[in-house]
Amino acid sequence: MTNENVIVLDFGGQYNQLIARRVRECSVYCEVHPYTMKLDEIKAKNPKGIILTGGPNSVYGEGALTYDRALFEMGVPVLGICYGSQLMAHVLGGRVEHAEVSEYGKTEVNVTKADSALFGGVPQKSICWMSHTDRITRVPEGFTVTAETKNCPVAAMENAEKKLYATQFHPEVMHTEHGAAMIKNFVMNVCGCAGDWQMGSFIERTVKSLKEKIGDGKALCALSGGVDSSVAAVLLSKAIGKNLTCVFVDHGLLRKNEGDEVAAVFGEDGPYDLNFVRVDASERFYEKLKGVTEPEKKRKIIGEEFIRVFEAEAKKIGKVDYLVQGTIYPDVIESGLGKSAVIKSHHNVGGLPDYVDFREIVEPLRLLFKDEVREVGRRLGIPEKLVRRQPFPGPGLGIRIIGEVTPDKVKIVQDADAIYREEIAKAGADKDLGQYFAALTNMRSVGVMGDGRTYDYAIALRAVMTADFMTAESARLPWDVLQRAANRIVNEVKGVNRVLYDCTSKPPATIEFE
Ligand code: XMP
Repeated sequence: MTNENVIVLDFGGQYNQLIARRVRECSVYCEVHPYTMKLDEIKAKNPKGIILTGGPNSVYGEGALTYDRALFEMGVPVLGICYGSQLMAHVLGGRVEHAEVSEYGKTEVNVTKADSALFGGVPQKSICWMSHTDRITRVPEGFTVTAETKNCPVAAMENAEKKLYATQFHPEVMHTEHGAAMIKNFVMNVCGCAGDWQMGSFIERTVKSLKEKIGDGKALCALSGGVDSSVAAVLLSKAIGKNLTCVFVDHGLLRKNEGDEVAAVFGEDGPYDLNFVRVDASERFYEKLKGVTEPEKKRKIIGEEFIRVFEAEAKKIGKVDYLVQGTIYPDVIESGLGKSAVIKSHHNVGGLPDYVDFREIVEPLRLLFKDEVREVGRRLGIPEKLVRRQPFPGPGLGIRIIGEVTPDKVKIVQDADAIYREEIAKAGADKDLGQYFAALTNMRSVGVMGDGRTYDYAIALRAVMTADFMTAESARLPWDVLQRAANRIVNEVKGVNRVLYDCTSKPPATIEFE
């Protein structure tokens, strides 16, 4: 890695990914590492700057996460955020205490040092996002207070000479009005980055290194038609051409026309040369899912069956040296750093197994965020419709049909979903939506159509806004869009006589229904 880089040291904050994303938005490469990363390892990466994240601890609590003072004495600029700011104060001899009043949420912040490099271009008063119970009550020697709020006398501090900066609030979250500008100020003005992380050069470099790595070897890719696996496949194809084979398994749980759409772009008649193999395995999946109603069991069956089908195809191709996966940076951060409870056993059709006889896994996108993957996709000429595709879960409609999955139910949910998406697109209402889809509830109710009684299914519509899919807010879709979609669904989709809108957030609900 020859790019300029900034390191984010994770102290257990909720927003560490967001910090990295904000830095990347400045075209500066950024990696997130656990706070246990050794100083020598940090030095070896030659970072232009270091950012310390928030975290749930108290700096003076038992077993508090900490870092050696030497981190602040390397001459590398440091920005401490929330817990990171308290840690900076504590380690360098300031004082941190429990605040009488904790601050949570949007808070007015007053910049008290107008010429602070961190606040260049930021108005004196603006809104920031606070979330803390401890606060700094005395800044370390050599530091100046640069911002305050009503209940937090040290909302920001700095030692400009040593290039050490800290904010009690979270500049990385969008609720901090000028947060992105503050991070940009730190990265560009304090750290002196020029912004050399560009997706065009990423493609060039990646293709070159894939060529060197794989040479004449053979690679196999499970192509789902999602953004990540599609971009990974096209990158690989640019690097190794004919030696790549892409297998697209149609499990019969795709959205309406999706199989054909994927085949049109990546198949023989499309612009790419991917050795595209389409396997129609719907019957197999429907057979295995017959009579199964329990969500986790359905997920397991779909995941396992997928592997069986893929395995059978791989055998036909013979020995492969490399298995291509569309892993992206949030997956790396989540699996490497966090510990979380299993809510659902996610199965990603792009993320496959340990059974195929291959030497190594290739993950060309493992350093990219989703928006960066999309940008790479655009530059590779992948159609916008695919590049902007909303995430679609590996188990597909199998987890959007509550209870038993049958071909008839698949057809109902496919048709309803297509209408819903069409209406949203027509109204241009998808701008802030992270994900939106129709699901088939397991509930039937009485309705009246023409002069007759009906006893049919209810479709649930969902639309969420989310930054990271870990939490989500139900979207306030315009009523007329919902009504038009509902009208069309009950009129055009046989077997449906009622449409419900899901206005729960995550948590406590999840985005998908199962
Ligand atoms: P939940 O339902 O857990 O979903 O709130 C969060 C995000 O993950 C997607 N999702 C999956 N993606 N395989 C995937 O590749 C899965 O098994 C799976 N389950 C959920 C979901 O669509 C949402 O974007």
